[in-house]
Amino acid sequence: MKVIRSSKEIKTNKFSKPFAFVPTMGNLHQGHLSLVEYAKENYSESIASIFINPLQFGKNEDLSNYPKTLSEDIRLLENSGCDYLFIPEANFAENLEEIKPRFADVLCGVSRPKHFQGVLMIIDKFLRLIKPDACLFGLKDYQQQLIIKDYVKQKQIKTDIISLPIIREKSGLAMSSRNNYLSEEDRKYCGKIFSCLQDLAKSSETSPIDSLKIPTIDYLIRAGFKIDYLEFVDANDLSPITKKTKKLLIAVAVKYKKVRLIDNIVVSLKKSHLNASSG
Ligand code: PAF
Repeated sequence: MKVIRSSKEIKTNKFSKPFAFVPTMGNLHQGHLSLVEYAKENYSESIASIFINPLQFGKNEDLSNYPKTLSEDIRLLENSGCDYLFIPEANFAENLEEIKPRFADVLCGVSRPKHFQGVLMIIDKFLRLIKPDACLFGLKDYQQQLIIKDYVKQKQIKTDIISLPIIREKSGLAMSSRNNYLSEEDRKYCGKIFSCLQDLAKSSETSPIDSLKIPTIDYLIRAGFKIDYLEFVDANDLSPITKKTKKLLIAVAVKYKKVRLIDNIVVSLKKSHLNASSG
């Protein structure tokens, strides 16, 4: 694997087409590696990046103690057969033009108001510099991939945004760098989050969707989770569900012992089972 540390070098490098790009903030886990594996299988070359993007962290968030595990990350990428690793210069996020994302004022955008703007500004810079044929994201960050897809479409950027399945721990907990802040036992316990989503997905096919939210929130609170949100929205644009909604996104963000965890599930609604009272 070739490690590139300058924007100038990555810009002029000749990749063999089609090539795929996997942006990360490091502290890699199987979720990231599944994206690299997909790139390896479906494209001629794969490029990963590691850059802890300061623009996407709020004032009270964990930028300064975000885990840095560069040598282990390099080892994992090398083992997964990644062709290139781009580690941008420290000032990579400086002097970027402000971009206002759509779909950023709901779900995670409510408690993290500038987060998606910061993500989009850095992804825009990566895409313009590297010009990959595809850029790969995990569906755990459902809102992130939706916002990026929308932006790329609006701006007619010629990169396919590909969203790939959530990779889970044995307990069902969605893989995330933040899981490292939890003990082994806590990670098992937090499998409850996904169990709830699965139960909700099942119930949403037969029960009125409006009736499902409060009991689940109550259950999660009693189980020791602090709720940021549990929302049922249209998976296409994160708008409130209506009778026309075909694809339902059930998305949740909670804190367990101060660690913020997000997860989601998408449900195809059959008309006969749609009971939303709104719209
Ligand atoms: O999902 C992430 O790790 C980050 O938001 C990303 C896409 C690498 C942008 O900094």
